[in-house]
Amino acid sequence: MAYQSILVEQRGAVTLVTLNRPEALNALNGQILSELLDAMAAFDKDTSQGCAVITGSERAFAAGADIKEMQSQGFASMYGHDFFAGWDAFTRTRKPVIAAVAGYALGGGCELAMMCDFILAADNAKFGQPEIKLAVSPGMGGSQRLTRAVGKAKAMEMCLTGRMIDAAEAERAGLVARIVPAAGLVEEAMKTAATIAGMAPLAVLANKEMVNAAYETTLTQGVQFERRLFHALFGTADQKEGMTAFVEKRPGNWTGK
Ligand code: HXC
Repeated sequence: MAYQSILVEQRGAVTLVTLNRPEALNALNGQILSELLDAMAAFDKDTSQGCAVITGSERAFAAGADIKEMQSQGFASMYGHDFFAGWDAFTRTRKPVIAAVAGYALGGGCELAMMCDFILAADNAKFGQPEIKLAVSPGMGGSQRLTRAVGKAKAMEMCLTGRMIDAAEAERAGLVARIVPAAGLVEEAMKTAATIAGMAPLAVLANKEMVNAAYETTLTQGVQFERRLFHALFGTADQKEGMTAFVEKRPGNWTGK
């Protein structure tokens, strides 16, 4: 598939996806969605790739779902086509995906960032769910993921007022993993992604799966799920290699088995 609205580049074991609709501040339309899903499916299947980074421009990660695309829609077409349900496929990516956010991450842009496994924020990043100003609401999971990330008080305030928060507030609230200077954002995200891609692949999948389980289960079920996956990793060759390498004071040499 030839992409028009995203750029995809492989650097070693890391896939860098850049949203590329500068004329609309990377507003997420149907085309970006289908291109992104295609790129993520290819990334997930490619055994040479261990981690992905999604970024936008220094001005905007993404300023939301494309308002011009939604403007004339009615209930029948939105509900009938289950508009936005396609984004669920993005969250089924099994390998880790980092959102490297500079500038605006608003509405669907904030929601896309939250669908990634964690967010690295540039110091100029701004996050918000301003849909209420358009007389609608988040529709790509924002009311749920934001509430789980920052708690009810801040999520409720942001959804009801549309107030944007800056990178420092987002970090204090637990929405972002770390803040880095805007000029070095992509480089730092690529470095972090390369670290992840350098880990034993099955352990990476298991760690992602068990952290995500914390959102979907009770504590008792989640702890049990973690323990079972932990046990399962002892069936891998890489566990033998990892622990032997530690004892022999050398780096592990992973086979992905
Ligand atoms: C379509 C968009 C857009 C969007 C910006 N643009 N955001 N087009 N959908 N979400 C376009 C503008 O129309 C403009 O195009 C160009 O990008 C540059 O934007 P400006 O507004 O001129 O830039 P600036 O003055 O710097 O303001 C930046 C901004 C503002 C604060 C980010 O663009 C803004 O408020 N955007 C909308 C943010 C928003 O409401 N997002 C939530 C969308 S709803 P032209 O052609 O005029 O140059 C959403 C819903 C999810 O995400 C689910 C429920 C429906």
